[in-house]
This record gives sequence, structure tokens and C-alpha cells, in this order.
Amino acid sequence: MQFRALHRIANKFLFINKSATALHTRSMACSRYEYVKSYEQDDKILPNVWIVIRIDGKKFHKFANAHKFEKPNDENALNVMNAAGIAVMEEFRDIVLGYGQSDEYSFVFRKDTSAFKRRAAKLLSYVTSMFTSSYVLSWSQWMQQPLNYAPCFDGRVVLYPSDENLRDYLSWRQADVHVNNLYNTAFWKLVLESGLTNQQAEERLRGTFSADKNELLFQEFGINYNTLPAMYRKGTILLRKRVVLPTQDEQDKGRQAIVPIHEDLIGNEFWKQHTEILGKYVPGKHVLNSLNGQLEKQLAKQLEKQATIAGI
Ligand code: GTP
Ligand code: MG
Repeated sequence: MQFRALHRIANKFLFINKSATALHTRSMACSRYEYVKSYEQDDKILPNVWIVIRIDGKKFHKFANAHKFEKPNDENALNVMNAAGIAVMEEFRDIVLGYGQSDEYSFVFRKDTSAFKRRAAKLLSYVTSMFTSSYVLSWSQWMQQPLNYAPCFDGRVVLYPSDENLRDYLSWRQADVHVNNLYNTAFWKLVLESGLTNQQAEERLRGTFSADKNELLFQEFGINYNTLPAMYRKGTILLRKRVVLPTQDEQDKGRQAIVPIHEDLIGNEFWKQHTEILGKYVPGKHVLNSLNGQLEKQLAKQLEKQATIAGI
């Protein structure tokens, strides 16, 4: 008797507890697991620093071979990169400058940008994925051969506290183009025109200075390096400008577009001419002299795209 009474009490107690647990579990259905959110790290970028995002193609030596890129520079392939860079700048309005060369692109965000609450992972992943998808979308506009496999790009965020640091960063990337392009131009001339093997060409150029390579190109191939296309020697700088067409009055306000230019950015002249980059950002003006040439083709494609999106 005593035992049965005890059992009843125990059961009652257990039942209450069970239903309490069930209720508790139900009411905590979301929050029980929610604690894992606290493992996410705050990656908000410091205020008042230049945010640079650089993306770089994965194993592009293989990708270039698989798609028969011209050596050392494939004009159309570089234009696919530029088209992807332009698409990124059209999407993210706080980017004040883009700089592309070979299989890489750098994007500079305004110092005071509040895009995505300055969260590093968001900024980096959006820019990298936008660049990649735009590269694939732009491919057929510039290339004859089909895209054989999906290209991919890595990305990194680098912060620069001063204008001088930012200029030095961009100068570093442009100096890299110069060194690589001069070497590659001489290397591929020796291989493709003089019939040297890759190893022989490498030995021939080992230990040479820029002046030697310039001399070699001039003496053996009649090439004045400085007259090669500026896009190959300087890379591509993308700037947000108000573009005034040759058919418009120079006083016209123009239409905003991303303008690819191939200038020296190491010297002071560039920064004097494009004061909007480091100053209070207002897109500068760019007056077109003609509607022919690579730059104009890129611009025409942009305006076409804008019209398609706007349904004009
Ligand atoms: P990871 O970046 O480490 O994955 O290697 P990678 O093969 O992409 O090399 P890296 O980024 O250092 O260099 C880019 C490579 O892309 C160059 O070495 C070239 O092989 C290739 N490349 C880029 N642009 C051109 C081009 O216009 N023509 C040709 N032929 N190759 C290009
Ligand atoms: Mg690469």
C-alpha cells in the first residue's frame, strides 16, 4: 500500500517534470541552438581607413593555356577582366578606383564607406563572387573560344591608414606589371620568334636589368617597348566619371560610367588630374574625343547594359 502511494507520487512528479521539460524544449526550440551564433566573430573594419580588396585568378597559367590566351598578353582576355571589374564598380558605388593587371584586380573603397556596416567578410565575399560571376557572363562578349571550365578567384582585404600607403600600394601593383610585362615580352619573343626553348630563354634573361631587356627587344626584334599598348605596360585603372560624348557639348554634365584608363599612377600627375580619388568624392569628368578604340568599346557595352537594365 505504502509502495503504491509512493509510486503514484513519483509518477505525478515525473509527469509534471516531463511536461515541463517538453514545454521548456518547445519554447526554447529556436534559442536552444542559437548560442552558436555567439561563435561568429565581429569583423567590422576600423573607421577611417582605405579598404582595398584584391582578387586573383586561381591557377590562371593553366586557365590561360586551356583557353589559348595569346602570349604574353591577350587583349580580349584582359578585357574580360576589365568588364568584370566594371561590373563590380557598377554594383558597389563606394568603390572609387579599380586597378587590374594579368589575372588580378584591386578595388579601393571610400575611406568613410558604411557599405555592409564595413563587415570584412561581407565586403570580400560580395566583391569576389560578383567579380567571378561577371567574368563568366562577360566571357562571350570578348572571346571567340567557349569557356571550358569555371574560373575562380581568391580574395583578400587589406587596410591602409594613409593616402601615402594607398598610393604606395597601387604603385607596387603597377611596378609589378612593368617588371613582369617587360620580362614576359622579351621571353616570348625569344621563344616564339627566335626558336629558343623556355629554358634557353630563361638563361638568356637571367641577371639582366630593364635596360638590357629594352635593348634586346630593340636590337633583335625592332621593338620599342614604350610603344607597346599601354594596357599591357600600365594595367587598367577604372575610375568613376561623368562621360561627355563627342556629340555632346563640353559643358554638358555627361552620364556616369566607369572609365578604363591606362596611365602611369606612380607619378604625381595622375593624382593631380584625378583629385576626386583622395579628396571629397565627386565623380570627375571625362571628355571622349572619338567613339573608336578599346575604351569606347568598353563604354559602349556599359551604356548598352545600362539601357537593357532600364528597359530602354
Ligand atoms: P595562383 O594565383 O597562385 O593560383 O597561380 P596563377 O597561375 O594564377 O599565377 P599568378 O596569379 O601568379 O599569375 C597569373 C598567370 O596568369 C600568369 O603567370 C599567366 O600565366 C596567366 N595570364 C594572365 N594574363 C594572361 C594573358 O593575357 N595571356 C597569357 N598567355 N597568360 C596570362
Ligand atoms: Mg593567379
